[in-house]
Amino acid sequence: MPILEIITYGNPVLVQRAEEIKKIDKTIIELAQNMVQTMHATPGIGLAAPQVNVSRRLITIDLSVGENNEDLIILINPELINQEGEIILEEGCLSVPEINEKVTRPTRVVVKGMDLEGKEIMIEAEGSLARVFCHEIDHLNGKLFFERLSPLKQSLIKKKLRKRAQAGKVE
Ligand code: NI
Repeated sequence: MPILEIITYGNPVLVQRAEEIKKIDKTIIELAQNMVQTMHATPGIGLAAPQVNVSRRLITIDLSVGENNEDLIILINPELINQEGEIILEEGCLSVPEINEKVTRPTRVVVKGMDLEGKEIMIEAEGSLARVFCHEIDHLNGKLFFERLSPLKQSLIKKKLRKRAQAGKVE
């Protein structure tokens, strides 16, 4: 299975609303498998399909980064159906390299979605898992984590990222 390329800030796919998955065909199953492999190899604890340039509603999460099979979550069309509490913790994103910022997220969430067999599943999560769910579902709605910060912080980060992109082009 191939490792997929992770796209970064500036790519328009990251700011689009990803499309609902209506049929779980071979393409979707392969995409999920490749995303899991890419997430483990990178390494990362969560990945959303738009990050591998596919604008569909699919996320993979594994807090153990491949250490524990039971921790692997593959969710199609995930929806945040309930959230509670607030906690501020530092967060980063594979699509926004080298930027870490404190972001407010709920402490507890309930997420509904489908597994690869099309079975509806409901997951109650707290702590890091709740945070990762929120982060990945944001990706499906075209929202990057730093867009949850104040407008001033956002513009500083965007400036930094633009400068970095320009420096990259000169090289
Ligand atoms: Ni991310």
